[in-house]
Amino acid sequence: MSVLRSVIVGCGSYLPARIVTNDELAAQVDTSDQWITERTGIKMRHIAADNELTSDLAAAAAKAALAQAKLEAAAIDLIVVATATPDQTFPATATRVQEKLGLTRGVAFDVQAVCSGFIFALTVADNFLRLGQANRALVIGAETFSRILDWEDRGTCVLFGDGAGAVVLEARAGHGSTDDRGILVSRIHSDGRYHDLLYVDGGPSSTQTTGHVKMEGKEVFRHAVTNLAAVVGETLGAAGLKATDLDWIVPHQANKRILDATAKKLGLGADKVIVTVDHHANTSAASVPLALAEAVADGRIQVGQLVLLEAMGGGFTWGASLIRM
Ligand code: ACO
Repeated sequence: MSVLRSVIVGCGSYLPARIVTNDELAAQVDTSDQWITERTGIKMRHIAADNELTSDLAAAAAKAALAQAKLEAAAIDLIVVATATPDQTFPATATRVQEKLGLTRGVAFDVQAVCSGFIFALTVADNFLRLGQANRALVIGAETFSRILDWEDRGTCVLFGDGAGAVVLEARAGHGSTDDRGILVSRIHSDGRYHDLLYVDGGPSSTQTTGHVKMEGKEVFRHAVTNLAAVVGETLGAAGLKATDLDWIVPHQANKRILDATAKKLGLGADKVIVTVDHHANTSAASVPLALAEAVADGRIQVGQLVLLEAMGGGFTWGASLIRM
């Protein structure tokens, strides 16, 4: 029997030009390159220019993904943007991206799951394509987290950066085997009880201000390792595969210690983990597609390989996608 599956036919990314190193941050807040490197693995982050909006980053990443797919924007009939830092409260940043790509038809909307946003957006777009409700989707993770940081709070401001990553998904008919290209299985979860461990203390309905990131770092760390290992196991199990079958794991890039601890829990070698947190920092919803695009561009991730994407973020939210590239 023929089944529809969503195949990644292009990846792209965009990083703002301005790079801020740990030493530059240490000149502004009471921190040091040594502390940031030892606790997080972060060495630098990109910061958007004043006139660069999340939709600008997203549109640039989308254009790069379309170029790799050798497609015109007109081939796209669905745009899903994952972001926690939209241009405006409304309309959806995805509609700004649609306009910037010169598109006037199709569907464009945002998905909000903070650092897990890209996995959630990919899952939603995959469902549209497998149901025949769209043929080609742009799934974008884009953030300007620098705009919601308290630059006097050294516990959070050193951790994040700005950027965008995108993939083009195309619905293709296949036999449904795990050897066929496409998204094999995705699993996503939320648990609102953990709101207070990671949130922004503002919003249109509560304070009428944008607010700043607040985080209980140690608690987030503990939950991240447990939830990520569990959802990776669940996703692999649903496909009848094991961690040792993976060619690559592309984790949300929050902290090198979370990446190492999760890989260890899964029994995966460090040589199978794509790491960009050292040069991107935590770019929230952009981190997974940025890391994916980098590893595809440098030839590490190749067509036919088995790749697992995973992320965890505020809410809490968490999820994983297993993909035959
Ligand atoms: N520079 C220097 N010192 C600092 C800094 C800093 N930037 N930030 C905190 N400190 C100090 C603290 O004040 C504290 O000092 P004290 O002992 O005198 O009170 C000390 O360092 C230890 O602080 P902790 O918060 O306990 O440090 P911890 O070892 O937990 O590391 C960190 C903090 C890096 C945030 C860690 O908890 C972590 O990685 N958590 C995961 C959370 C995360 O990555 N979140 C990202 C978003 S969520 C997500 O994407 C999954």
